[in-house]
Amino acid sequence: NKVVLAYSGGLDTSVIVPWLRENYGCEVVCFTGDVGQGVQELEGLEQKAKASGACQLVVKDLKEEFVRDFIFPCLRAGAIYERKYLLGTSMARPVIAKAMVDVAKEVGADAVSHGCTGKGNDQVRFELTFFALNPELSVVAPWREWEIKGREDAIEYAIKHNVPVPVTKKSIYSRDRNLWHLSHEGDILEDPASEPKEDMYMMTVDPKEAPDQPEYVKIGIVEGLPVSINGKEFSPASLLSELNEIGGKHGIGRIDMVENRLVGMKSRGVYETPGGTILFAAARELESLTLDRETIQIKDFLALKYAELVYAGRWFDPLRESMDAFMKEITKTTTGSVTLKLYKGSVSVTGREGPNSLYRQDISSFESGEIYNQADAAGFIRLYGLPMRVRAMLEKGL
Ligand code: ARG
Ligand code: SIN
Repeated sequence: NKVVLAYSGGLDTSVIVPWLRENYGCEVVCFTGDVGQGVQELEGLEQKAKASGACQLVVKDLKEEFVRDFIFPCLRAGAIYERKYLLGTSMARPVIAKAMVDVAKEVGADAVSHGCTGKGNDQVRFELTFFALNPELSVVAPWREWEIKGREDAIEYAIKHNVPVPVTKKSIYSRDRNLWHLSHEGDILEDPASEPKEDMYMMTVDPKEAPDQPEYVKIGIVEGLPVSINGKEFSPASLLSELNEIGGKHGIGRIDMVENRLVGMKSRGVYETPGGTILFAAARELESLTLDRETIQIKDFLALKYAELVYAGRWFDPLRESMDAFMKEITKTTTGSVTLKLYKGSVSVTGREGPNSLYRQDISSFESGEIYNQADAAGFIRLYGLPMRVRAMLEKGL
């Protein structure tokens, strides 16, 4: 029998390969999904996987699918977890797990495995996706089973099993990088009162080192989805990497928070989401022209639940899918562009326009117009305030 392992080439997943062979007597097919984690992480992977004892390494480029089918729907929905988190890791797990289910089928594997710990969200996200897409697959989560407790144990196990210990210097932080974000957890961040060190950041410059001149960017949006930057069209993944460059240069998108993990504990994380922060500002702003008051309220209300489902790994839940259909329908007219000013860590909106705008200068203007008659307001206020008057009359015995 065969198992497909979510493989990164780091120490943990390198040790999982011989451990699976020893404990489950199976062949190990390593799988790496390219979600934009960067070239250094992908270099020399095949050699490494084979040196660890894998029979095969499968690499798939998931970047466009990730941005188009996972990130953009969350952006359109306005999904933000616990007021701050733009869900970078949460969105990446289902696209990787989905690809693993496909690879399992291609290579004839009956099991899948991952290197997530038993204390986090990621294990849930992987496994709920496996369940949803192929309930027949067995799942092996070594961190929940084995005796290895930390880095020292893992190195010892590697040496004993003749697995080359990855030379890449292990950072003190637990990091996860993809096209949307870079997350940092662990080490000094475990004290929620301590400020992150400046040298931790990788995608964004220190805002005080950012250019002294503001930069304007114009984001073109069609039906709630971004399509262009300053009039130039891009594919979803290239649009995002372009904005990561621009946003990173201006120190945009640093988020420092304490969040509630699905498994109950709180954890402190710092995220860098430069392009995503720009896109959220743009997409939300255009809705101020295209959606009315009640629609915005309901959309924002559903976005909370949508974000919670994504965070909890329930991407392939019919509830999220149905809510997504709503989000798609409600943003059909959200087309146009938003101009943003980027300056030393801040994004501010300076303009918005679009063909389906509900804003009408001829109505809103302080100059008098035809459609809105000020005299109508008197009757409106009398009726709108009727319940308040009735209550006051009662209190005063009138
Ligand atoms: N706390 C974030 C989340 O749950 C980031 C997790 C990062 N994962 C990792 N394996 N380092 O989505
Ligand atoms: C892990 O525990 O594997 C990473 C953190 C998380 O999943 O939340």
